[in-house]
Amino acid sequence: AFTAVWEPTGARVEVPADRSLLTALRERGVDVDASCESGTCGTCRLRLVAGEAEHRDLVLTGDERERYVMPCVSRCLSGELVLAP
Ligand code: FES
Repeated sequence: AFTAVWEPTGARVEVPADRSLLTALRERGVDVDASCESGTCGTCRLRLVAGEAEHRDLVLTGDERERYVMPCVSRCLSGELVLAP
């Protein structure tokens, strides 16, 4: 499990091992557009404000991985990710 902090509201969202980051955010009322939910389409992209993501998508380039995360598949290596639209 890890924690996602939604920067616009400061909401802290627990992401258990059996839930995607996308699902956990949506369950807390954060509206994130998504399509493939398998890390290939690019629709769900969020800004990575802080924290170290475990990138599992197939769309972001190496540079983009510093600044963005795909919440349908990716997770966290640092215990906490701070995210924004
Ligand atoms: Fe397609 Fe996340 S919904 S990459």
